[in-house]
Amino acid sequence: MKKTAFITGIAGQDGSYLSEYLLSLGYRVTGIVRRNSTVEHQRDRIYGLPIELEYGDLIDQGSIERAMRLFKPDEIYNLGAQSHVRISSDIPHFTVQTNAMGVLNMLEAFRHIVPNAKFYQASSSEMFGSAVDEDGYQRETTPMHPVSPYGCSKVFGYNIVRHHRNAYKLFAANGILFNHESPRRGSNFVTNKVVKGAVEISLGLADKLEMGNMDSFRDWGHSKDYVRAMHLILQQDKPEDYVVATGETRSVREMCEYVFGKLGLDYQAYVTQNPKFLRPEELPYLRGDSKKIRTELKWVPEYSFENLMDEMIAHWQEIYSTK
Ligand code: NAP
Ligand code: GDD
Repeated sequence: MKKTAFITGIAGQDGSYLSEYLLSLGYRVTGIVRRNSTVEHQRDRIYGLPIELEYGDLIDQGSIERAMRLFKPDEIYNLGAQSHVRISSDIPHFTVQTNAMGVLNMLEAFRHIVPNAKFYQASSSEMFGSAVDEDGYQRETTPMHPVSPYGCSKVFGYNIVRHHRNAYKLFAANGILFNHESPRRGSNFVTNKVVKGAVEISLGLADKLEMGNMDSFRDWGHSKDYVRAMHLILQQDKPEDYVVATGETRSVREMCEYVFGKLGLDYQAYVTQNPKFLRPEELPYLRGDSKKIRTELKWVPEYSFENLMDEMIAHWQEIYSTK
């Protein structure tokens, strides 16, 4: 029988790729979107997909329960979040309400309405914050010392998932995903900001790019690879938490060097620093050890860092060639 998936954050980067992936596997795909005054743009990433949508908000418990009763999902993917780390310092209350209390709202609806379903929580490497193991990696056992309202809210979500799993014997699992990108990434995240800016400079449409901290390190993978991991985590007999990462780390500076270099440019001639893009507290270094999901669930990413960046560059070149 056709399985039903219920996705929050369905119109976001991951929600859109996950929808396409689950549709390709024969799922009925459902989800909630928030009310927004510009409805067309809000649904750009999921335009034309044969999915069922209702209005809902993670902060509005009644709307979550309504959707859960209507869709009766077999698998629940809680991807909805205020997902921008720097902006979480500007709107900390909204961030915590959505990313922390929103998870509790989802878990309670799951527990009372469809307790036999499976639940995936979009947890994050930002939860590790300033903690790094001695060998230079973060993994499932690394302590969590978050350094942003976003990271703090995600730690609550992570822990309440584990609590509900243990207390009520629910299938609830965390994917602890490191940064993942794509042409569908919001253009105020660093990779897409750099790629878009560099393509504009290469075409003479801009002459500089204002950045924040160039010396933080991130472990960047492709969203398409990471949504396969989400699905895999829910196909197991036992709910467990998994780190999903490439295991490679690069600085923002190195990423700029690659992207501008691909376009025949020297990033140093164009990139300036604007303090407005710095963070009140920076997370300087992320590198994930995803041995558990690779060995136990046989997850293998298909994209390299270079393939990912090249795809994003081609995307922006295509957009500007049709303007
Ligand atoms: P994204 O593109 O920002 O998508 C987030 C989605 O959540 C958007 O559709 C957004 O809708 C929705 N949303 C925001 N507030 C909501 C609320 N109160 N109620 C219901 N929906 C709400 O993020 P993403 O990159 O796809 O990430 C998906 C999830 O994975 C997020 O939980 C993120 O924190 C987590 N994560 C991401 C990464 C990464 O590197 N991408 C890594 C680790 C974890 P609007 O457009 O209406 O705001
Ligand atoms: N956004 C942004 N804009 N980041 C910049 C800039 C800039 O102009 N200049 C430097 N950076 C640096 C940030 O300070 C950070 O160290 C790094 O680039 C990455 O920033 P983002 O791309 O905004 O991502 P993030 O690492 O803060 O958060 C993303 O990854 C988390 C997983 O670790 C988000 O997707 C989170 O939702 C996710 O949980």
